[in-house]
Amino acid sequence: MVEKYETISDDSLRHLVDSFYACVRQDKGLAPVFEASIGTTDEEWQPHLELISNFWSGVILGKKGYDGNPLQAHRNLPSFDGLLFSRWLAIFANTALETHALVPATVLIRKSVSIADMMSRDLFGNSLNAPAMPALPSSQQYYRSTPAFQAAGIPDALRRAHKTAAGVFGRIVVSKGRLLYTIGREQSHILTTDNAGIIEPESLHFVTPLDDAEFVVEFYKDPN
Ligand code: HEM
Repeated sequence: MVEKYETISDDSLRHLVDSFYACVRQDKGLAPVFEASIGTTDEEWQPHLELISNFWSGVILGKKGYDGNPLQAHRNLPSFDGLLFSRWLAIFANTALETHALVPATVLIRKSVSIADMMSRDLFGNSLNAPAMPALPSSQQYYRSTPAFQAAGIPDALRRAHKTAAGVFGRIVVSKGRLLYTIGREQSHILTTDNAGIIEPESLHFVTPLDDAEFVVEFYKDPN
């Protein structure tokens, strides 16, 4: 187990980038898109890892090593499914939290969402999409709710991967701002006042406030 970085540095970003792409290379949705451009061997991946570490050092630390054009680079790729952004963000958010403490991880996750959103608009003409939200079966009955959480006061446990008990569904209801809701390493959804998040029983998930978001979690179970 590697210690988590308390602050963002070139080293912490390199670590994040290495972990992130190790996971991307194992992902059945994303790996084919990357391997078609970059290749499959570690030797072929080294320059990409270097390039992306420099990109993040520029974005977060203002360093000058990267002078590419990410929007153009993605326009040049063979077309891919826009829903892959949801997967990309889920892996990134998990990896940011695995390598960094909560505060720096949040900085990285927020930045990743805003760049991904810009790319999605540029490539597909729409802001980030995600797969269909899990459904809340009609047999489920509301039984309680958390207090209202404000961004600064969200319990750490909700901001790191955790799960609801067997048989318990959750519904994340945002009353202000935007929340990133990440399910496993597969999906990240942007929750707003118009888009509630459904938590399935025992599914690993976490939330990341993207601004001064406020929300409650309602709990549901089958009364029978
Ligand atoms: C579904 C989402 C994405 C896919 C499938 C994807 C795929 C790729 C691929 C295949 C390359 C390599 C291009 C090449 O060298 O031939 C690349 C490069 C890159 N990606 Fe992504 N990407 C995604 C999202 C993102 C996001 C959200 C960011 C930033 C937060 C990002 C940052 C970059 C950068 C900086 C490069 C290097 C561009 C250059 O050559 O200068 N990508 N991406």
